[in-house]
Amino acid sequence: MKIVLSKSYKFMLLVYQFCVKYTTIFERFGQICVDLIGFIGYYGLYERGRDCTTELCGLPVTGNLPPSLSARGVPPPKGEIMLQVVDVSLNFGSRKLFSEVNLKFTKGNCYGVIGANGAGKSTFLKLLSGEIETTKGYITHDKNERMSVLQQNQNAFDNETVLRTVLLGHKRLMEVWDQKDKLYMKEDFSEADGILAGELEQEFADLGGWEAESDAQTLLANIGIDSQYYDTLMRDLDSKLKVKVLLAQALFGNPDILLLDEPTNNLDIKTIAWLENFLLNYENTVITVSHNRHFLNKVCTHICDVDYGKISIFVGNYDFWYESSQLILRQQKEANKKAEARAKELQDFIARFSANASKSKQATSRKKELEKLTIEDIKPSSRRYPYIAFSSERPIGNDVLIVEKLSKKGFFENVSFIVDRNDKIAFLSDNVNAISALFDILSGKDTDYTGKIKWGKTITHSYLPKEYNEMFNTTLSLTDWLGQFSKEKDQTFLRSWLGRMLFSGEEALKPANVLSGGEKVRCMLSKIMLEQGNVILLDEPTNHLDLESITALNKGMSNFNGVLLFASSDQELTQTVANRIIKIDNTKTFDRYITYDEYLEKYAK
Ligand SMILES: Nc1ncnc2c1ncn2[C@@H]1O[C@H](COP(=O)(O)OP(=O)(O)OP(=O)(O)O)[C@@H](O)[C@H]1O
Ligand SMILES: [Mg+2]
Repeated sequence: MKIVLSKSYKFMLLVYQFCVKYTTIFERFGQICVDLIGFIGYYGLYERGRDCTTELCGLPVTGNLPPSLSARGVPPPKGEIMLQVVDVSLNFGSRKLFSEVNLKFTKGNCYGVIGANGAGKSTFLKLLSGEIETTKGYITHDKNERMSVLQQNQNAFDNETVLRTVLLGHKRLMEVWDQKDKLYMKEDFSEADGILAGELEQEFADLGGWEAESDAQTLLANIGIDSQYYDTLMRDLDSKLKVKVLLAQALFGNPDILLLDEPTNNLDIKTIAWLENFLLNYENTVITVSHNRHFLNKVCTHICDVDYGKISIFVGNYDFWYESSQLILRQQKEANKKAEARAKELQDFIARFSANASKSKQATSRKKELEKLTIEDIKPSSRRYPYIAFSSERPIGNDVLIVEKLSKKGFFENVSFIVDRNDKIAFLSDNVNAISALFDILSGKDTDYTGKIKWGKTITHSYLPKEYNEMFNTTLSLTDWLGQFSKEKDQTFLRSWLGRMLFSGEEALKPANVLSGGEKVRCMLSKIMLEQGNVILLDEPTNHLDLESITALNKGMSNFNGVLLFASSDQELTQTVANRIIKIDNTKTFDRYITYDEYLEKYAK
């Protein structure tokens, strides 16, 4: 790979490296360093035309950086403001989710919204799209600019065909289209109708109506939806395909502002790569929530960090944000250490000499200096680690699970394996739905199969399926929700399980239906911990979780002394937990006691 870096960019990289290395020594230059990083973040991206890697330039930044802003046609340094957030606050009852947020989103940029589970990312997107209203402040955007939002409710278009669902992404175009069709169906077509039809035809053409169908078909084909599905009703579509159609709907018609909430969830690697490229070449404004570091690094020109009820925008991708926020933190700590030492020195002087007439003048001036000294209140981040520890109530016997010639139509055929008491099995498949189908059968959720499964007598199993949203369609408080799965109904007992998963105080009493994506997973994990099964089945458990929760889950899975059957697209988790890999592609194609890395190295094509 040939890398071309402009001279000025190379120079700035050197300055950056120097600053990072020597910040603690030349701490007085700390602020300059931070400014430089912002500067390099912006202009670096502006000047760069190609990918550069850690090895090549020695930057403490991993992965590929986004393409240059110039390639996106963005004039430096200011773009046209597309969306402005002015003094926005939002409260849910007594909880202040945001207070006095001020932001500007400019054309041509891709903003990655990051923050802990429950910090308010999805809510922020809902504020931007106007789905919910602010408590205070306002959001402005030019009404001529078209905003498109990735639909979160997978069943919202169940009665529409696949092709029409995509077209419905451009609301105004479809309104014009439907109105036009209705008009031509009229029997008593008047002169006024004729004038209206002319206007509608003009608007239809201006909105790209004549190309709309073929554009939608191209989009569907690119995203991996075959033409055989175009006329299928959305309700008859498998959930994996539905997600893709809804994504195509959001992207359709080149919207001016694109809002995406965790778009990579439930997408296969190939489609994620396609989406990354699509967004890289996208000329308008993208605002996307994601916990996927690779995705954020690849597509983002800016990062919006949601923390402590504030949202701050940083220039650069995720790794730039991470490095500079760590640097600011280090610098603040150093400054505080210095200030504390100086304060002590001053206090000692004042204590010793304030009664001494000849030194009283100096003592007074030192008192003044002491009053002026400020020790910053450092708030590194509100991100916290939940405590995930699975323990089983009953020791596991010799017989765990025998699967014999198991077949599920459309997913797999004649699959057989025997699970041992020390197994932690990662299941892989090119068809991710096959593993979900297998787990549904093993957990007893699906009884429509042929073949045999036999669980050992000592076994009690718990299951985290990929689809659990329906379980949260209730206004039960979290304690009552968890109580449904427990013999022990005592509130203090239930609260202790929720507390481990960071639902403390009032939080444990909120209704289940308002939970964020990651909070739902945390609740499901509380349920699994409480059930204390000796076999646990987990289907993509890291979906929706923030990095802290993924780390805690990884630890909990590694330390579990029972049997684990799981599927995860998180490579590190799979590598550190699994001692056996089973790959199922229609029939069982691979089964070995081996780590994931060994599998990738020796057996993956
Ligand atoms: N109507 C509501 N009433 C009370 N609390 C609410 C309501 N809607 C959302 N919340 C709470 O607001 C917080 C923010 O939710 P949001 O869905 O925006 O989080 P998020 O940052 O998207 O998290 P995740 O990463 O898990 O998706 C959560 O704690 C959620 O429980
Ligand atoms: Mg969310």
